[in-house]
Amino acid sequence: MIAAPARTPIARFVALVEQRLGLHYEQGQWGELEAVLAERAAGRGVELYLAQLTAPSAQAEWKVLAERLTVGETYFLRHPTQLETLVDQVLPSFLRQTSSLRVLCAGCSTGEEPYSVALLARERGRVDSSRLRILGIDVNPRAIAQARRACYSPWSLRAVPAAMRAQWFQRTPEGFALQPQVRDQVIFEERNLLEEAPAFWAPGSFHAILCRNVVLYFPPEVIRRIIARMAQALVPGGYLFMGPSETLRGISEDFELLRGGDAFYYRLRQPTPPAASVALAAPPPAAPQKVAPPPADGLGEVLHLLDAERYTEAWAHLESLPQTSQPQALLLRAVLHLHAGRLAQAEQLGRQLATASATEAPACYLLGLCLEQAGDEAGARGRYAASVRADPTFALGYLRVGTLARRAGDIVEARVALRMAVSLLPQEKPLHLALFGGGFGRHGLMQVGLQELQACTEVP
Ligand SMILES: C[S@@+](CC[C@H](N)C(=O)[O-])C[C@H]1O[C@@H](n2cnc3c(N)ncnc32)[C@H](O)[C@@H]1O
Repeated sequence: MIAAPARTPIARFVALVEQRLGLHYEQGQWGELEAVLAERAAGRGVELYLAQLTAPSAQAEWKVLAERLTVGETYFLRHPTQLETLVDQVLPSFLRQTSSLRVLCAGCSTGEEPYSVALLARERGRVDSSRLRILGIDVNPRAIAQARRACYSPWSLRAVPAAMRAQWFQRTPEGFALQPQVRDQVIFEERNLLEEAPAFWAPGSFHAILCRNVVLYFPPEVIRRIIARMAQALVPGGYLFMGPSETLRGISEDFELLRGGDAFYYRLRQPTPPAASVALAAPPPAAPQKVAPPPADGLGEVLHLLDAERYTEAWAHLESLPQTSQPQALLLRAVLHLHAGRLAQAEQLGRQLATASATEAPACYLLGLCLEQAGDEAGARGRYAASVRADPTFALGYLRVGTLARRAGDIVEARVALRMAVSLLPQEKPLHLALFGGGFGRHGLMQVGLQELQACTEVP
């Protein structure tokens, strides 16, 4: 038997870093780590250094590595629409249930993010700051020390309006010092997101967690572990905010995706509709009813995977089933073609299905999506309009008609269609939501409809 080749020191270092800090390095990036390994191992030798890294006494060395390897880029009021959604809608929605609101900023770097939450909450005045507790955690001890100092460079404040800067910061020789009453509202802790800490992640610990621009450096299995922990630590119906280039697609099915303006965020799914809805005064969402009862022929699983936006797996599952000309199977096939960018195939099936009355409405909708994806919004709007003529209860059809009409400046038509969408969404067929809901869920789509309506009223 031939022995497996011993892994090189750099490969072992890369593996240790990923295991301990979660940071994943592709082979093309190993050069960065090689320099750090050479420097840190100098004087003791690489083999001894790697052995020492696995010992319990290596804590101090891991702190040094966390400082050296993490990326701490951050600034005040980053991704502002998310922050506004948090303080204007999400947090006030819990006020009837609790006297103290708890927000966690996981991977808070030098503190700009949690302080932004504190500042914005004061500026907006929707929640009483004395009821708001904000905790920032980060694995980088130097970042945490700087966060506690709360003194910032003009670069950190680049997105803060001048009036806000004047009100909440004081110019000092070291930089802009945050007012003590805001600074003291945030507590910081040095903590590694990968470490087991059952007491910290106890159920119901937080109403909202911000974990933005953190997991993009982690491999999927690490993200899965962290997100599962966060889901457990949120109150029922709690919220999770991630960075714009981070997604839970294929990571967790515990959350539904919501949209507020141009910001996306997640809400922990719960078995019953929430008692308090977010501030947009949405009509109470119907009890979650995600997909149609699974058909016995295996299509239920495909629908489920589609609903979870696991398109590749959904396609593979569909392909593993016996070929059938059942309309539901053909619709699923067409939708999955669309998600894979195979517009011609999706369109061909769509045209075929549009000739049968049972599938005319969803098929027209699908043809609209194909045209929209090809950049033809006017053509798409025509198809969506055909879908609601075929099925006047088709809420999703109205939603697209309204959205495209608003974009085209046809505000009267947009308002009519969007009102129809919002009033019909509570009864929208679970099959339509699974096929075309894009992972938003009924409640998320309702929010989209209400936002669109609001945008119509803002047009002069
Ligand atoms: C790019 S910053 C994001 C800061 C802030 N959330 C924002 O969006 O502006 C990423 C932060 O995640 C922290 N981080 C990386 N790995 C971590 C881990 N395993 N545990 C805790 N924090 C970690 C880094 O130290 C860094 O400060």
